Amino acid sequence: MTRRGAAVAAAVAGLAIVAVVVAALVARGGDTPAIELPRSYATPAPGAYAKPLGTSVRLDAARTDAAYLRLWLAGYTSVTPENAMKWEVVEPSRNAFDFSAADAIVTAARRAGQRVRGHTLTWDVQLPGWVQSRAWTAADMELALRSHVRATVGHFRGRVAQWDVVNEPLDDDGSLTRSVFARVLGERFIDIAFDEAHRADPRAKLFLNEIATELPGPKQDALVALVRRLQARDVPIDGVGLQDHSVAVGGPDQRRLEADIARFARLGLDVELTEVDVAVRPGEPEAAQARNYRAAAAACRRSRACTGLTVWGVTDRWSWQGPGARATPFDAASRPKPAWRALRAAMRRVRRDSR
Ligand code: XIL
Repeated sequence: MTRRGAAVAAAVAGLAIVAVVVAALVARGGDTPAIELPRSYATPAPGAYAKPLGTSVRLDAARTDAAYLRLWLAGYTSVTPENAMKWEVVEPSRNAFDFSAADAIVTAARRAGQRVRGHTLTWDVQLPGWVQSRAWTAADMELALRSHVRATVGHFRGRVAQWDVVNEPLDDDGSLTRSVFARVLGERFIDIAFDEAHRADPRAKLFLNEIATELPGPKQDALVALVRRLQARDVPIDGVGLQDHSVAVGGPDQRRLEADIARFARLGLDVELTEVDVAVRPGEPEAAQARNYRAAAAACRRSRACTGLTVWGVTDRWSWQGPGARATPFDAASRPKPAWRALRAAMRRVRRDSR
């Protein structure tokens, strides 16, 4: 071997060692065990729903509450990990990734034939301390953001159909939330996150997900304007997620939701109702809750641009709003409420030959 050849060989060997070390770092810390699926369990009949009907799922609940696990598998055709893909979970310290909790949910969902929504890559809540409190330069934050998005989307490439790339970027008055990302990078953080997500999985549909934009007002207007600016800058955005956390009395009705969806559809976007739940306040009838679930499902079903609807939480026992809000279609003892029948019926595919 010539000296030059030897130098090249040494350099290649060096690179190989670096690659092994990097791989070990990336894989480290992931020891969340798989979700044990029951030996036999029900799933919705193929084609039962006109569009994907999803639920968010918490790993602790799926692992410890057998009724919860069965309701998830039997009732739904799509899943959103409720917390397991958030930044504090997948990258608790810089460049040390742990996808094991999310993998447990994604693996179980795919075995049951479900679609997976990834939630969420960039949000100023549930962030680890190292992101929240570092004195960032713009260049270093861009590196960290790109690396987080690339590793996360890359890990699930081909297994996650849609990503909420950016979550809740706006304040109620429509201004850009002063998140750590916005403070350091301005609105450009959104462009960066979408750009990197698209590179990491060009087939995944990329969404901007926002809360409280189901009702017209300054925030919905600001979301439309933001999307227009992103499109003008060629940011690869496919859709808008309307979370639709609402209340039994005073929540948006079917016409309202159809009009909201149409507003974003006119921008050429897909729309997904991503986090539907309907809180029932004391004294309010369960029938009002059922009406709102039916309205959301019917609006999605009837709107060509709507790609699916996800309920936020399987049962009231595990709802992020607490059992007292009674916000999900199943009560704290895992029994179906009128909301469940209404939701399912509104999303059910109507067969041409059925009477
Ligand atoms: C909530 C989860 O449901 C809770 O378990 C967690 O403690 C906090 O986050 N908007 C979102 C979701 O985009 O990620 C939030 O989920 C609910 C509001």
